[in-house]
Amino acid sequence: MSETSPRVLVVVPTYDERENLPGALDRLRAHVPDADVLVVDDGSPDGTGELAEKIAEREVAADGVQRVHVLHRAGKLGLGTAYVAGFSWALERGYDVVVEMDADGSHRAEDLPRLLAALADADLVLGSRWVPGGSVVNWPVSRHVLSRGANTYTRLALGIPLRDATGGFRAYRAGLLRGLRLDDVASQGYCFQVDMAWRAVRAGARVVEVPITFVERALGQSKMSRAIVVEALLSVTRWGIAERSRHVAGAFRRSSG
Ligand code: GDD
Ligand code: MN
Repeated sequence: MSETSPRVLVVVPTYDERENLPGALDRLRAHVPDADVLVVDDGSPDGTGELAEKIAEREVAADGVQRVHVLHRAGKLGLGTAYVAGFSWALERGYDVVVEMDADGSHRAEDLPRLLAALADADLVLGSRWVPGGSVVNWPVSRHVLSRGANTYTRLALGIPLRDATGGFRAYRAGLLRGLRLDDVASQGYCFQVDMAWRAVRAGARVVEVPITFVERALGQSKMSRAIVVEALLSVTRWGIAERSRHVAGAFRRSSG
């Protein structure tokens, strides 16, 4: 970035991540000490939201600066809407860079400085499992197939060159988010990731992919569900068809006009 020290907010959505959140926040503090964190908790039954509050208070007591913030939502409203709420929170407070990161340890804090550095020449940096140097550790074959299939389908349906448009470890320039009309993002589940990448590409943003190592969670459970996969498949198909009809309409206007 051209500014000397951009203000960075890492948005971490949580649902039942009590065992994972403290470690994730510790590693963030170790590897990206200046970043602020916003935990967006959907009323986790296991008390993750209250635990996040305690961690925030402890940090304030220790060094007098509040770096961890918590946004509580009433119930499980989906990853996509959690991020939209987090992004709005960040933009209202004037952050320069907004990061998406899972709470379960899958996204390694040690990879984040490389993502942030790549923003110097980009508006959106995707942590990518499927570019040379990227990898996934400890996934069952079924998740490999799902992710590779989803990314291939996304590339073909939308005609974008991205290798990992479904990944959830990324950094945005705030200026890009401001231009993307977050209030009409309807994606509730994980297709939110494709939705945002697709919006960024269409807005003419510079999107780059940086290799990451994704490590499957050791504790707790993935919230991936059949409903999330179905929403993603239908959404990407719908966006692909809309894009093709725009092209056809454009070609028709050109040939008849
Ligand atoms: N607030 C909130 N609300 N948080 C949620 C919700 C929700 O409805 N659903 C999931 N989360 C949180 C989890 O607690 C975790 O911190 C993060 O979102 C990722 O959820 P996981 O359930 O661990 O996702 P995953 O490992 O199966 O999927 C990852 O890879 C996908 C692509 O393969 C994520 O990074 C996805 O974003 C990504 O699309
Ligand atoms: Mn996970």
